[in-house]
Amino acid sequence: MRSRTGDARLDALCERAAGAFRSAFGGEPALWTIAPGRVNLIGEHTDYNDGFVLPAAIDRHVVIAAGPRSDRLVRLFAPDLGDRGDRAEFDLDGLERDPVHPWTNYERGVAWVLQGEGYALSGMDAVLTGDLPIAAGLSSSAAVEVATAHTFQMFCDLELDGVRRALLCQKAENEFVGMRCGIMDQYIISLGRRDHALLIDCRSLSYDLVPIPAGCSVVICDTRKQRGLVDSEYNTRRQECETGARLLGVPALRDVSVAQFEAREAELPEVTRKRCRHVVTENQRVLDAVAALRAGDTGRFGQLMDASHVSLRDDYQVSCKELDAMVEAAQAQEGVLGARMTGAGFGGCTVNLVATDAASAFQQRVSEEYARATGVVPRVYVCAAADGVHSLA
Ligand code: GLA
Repeated sequence: MRSRTGDARLDALCERAAGAFRSAFGGEPALWTIAPGRVNLIGEHTDYNDGFVLPAAIDRHVVIAAGPRSDRLVRLFAPDLGDRGDRAEFDLDGLERDPVHPWTNYERGVAWVLQGEGYALSGMDAVLTGDLPIAAGLSSSAAVEVATAHTFQMFCDLELDGVRRALLCQKAENEFVGMRCGIMDQYIISLGRRDHALLIDCRSLSYDLVPIPAGCSVVICDTRKQRGLVDSEYNTRRQECETGARLLGVPALRDVSVAQFEAREAELPEVTRKRCRHVVTENQRVLDAVAALRAGDTGRFGQLMDASHVSLRDDYQVSCKELDAMVEAAQAQEGVLGARMTGAGFGGCTVNLVATDAASAFQQRVSEEYARATGVVPRVYVCAAADGVHSLA
């Protein structure tokens, strides 16, 4: 059979989505939208400080198989939820949050924002599936948002470039779902590039492509610790950063260099000082890490990842014992260049840069070591950097 996507894993996901579409709605889907998850190599909790981040889209995806409708109804089927899947529907004229099917709030929120911005939408039937782990800190919710926006874009002929699409999806998450996330996740899912990370300037919203170095693999280790505190602690950290910027008299912590911070840190209360120290040094680490990669110095890049973890653990205080155990297990292995928690924290995943010829032994040994330390068998994925959202007819 001819490959639809050029990738066996994605072909299988598209087939599964089409099968679910047939059984839920009858007929064939008109298109498939494919949105990757993301992993951040370095630059954590810097995006909402107007700073720098270096994420990559990963080859684990959300797939939407959809057909257009001429009325205002959106019917959704998620075959992977519950024992037999979950169905829900909403009207584009009555968009509210759904407490019974909370997974639909991402689609609802995107429709709400698009219409609020004056885009004319019509309904659709859609199946949502994928192989991106849910609630593991790999941005499955942002992937659903961006995939939904892209599907509306295709069906309703909306003029939306990648950055604007990301901004509107972030707005859906901030204002409809109620999570004050920064721009990183929606941006990289919208604009990611195969075999590359993106150095994103979260103030200008421009990016530079940074190739993943040859001979290195990005390995993601899922602690399987649910990220319980993440929403409330995340919002607290944002406020602490805003306080820090105000006390330092700058628009955002992006505007403070490491030297400027060191000259004035004594003026700050202790907790604010620690939060600011993380953000200011992390921004510098991102720039240093990109310079290291461009110079072919993967060893230096790895050291900066390790330093980022220490800063997130001790100054920003968003790690947890499971993330620390996973990083420690990783750092003890041969072939590992760097290891750190990734994403918001309080559980979820670590990201590791590992020599490709050592990656499969690394996968095995880290799993064993983490299971021995915590009693939990982790999930470990060797990932490739993938393209951002796109649709296939
Ligand atoms: C979450 C948010 C992002 C970013 C990271 C931390 O993933 O959605 O915007 O702030 O946390 O770097």
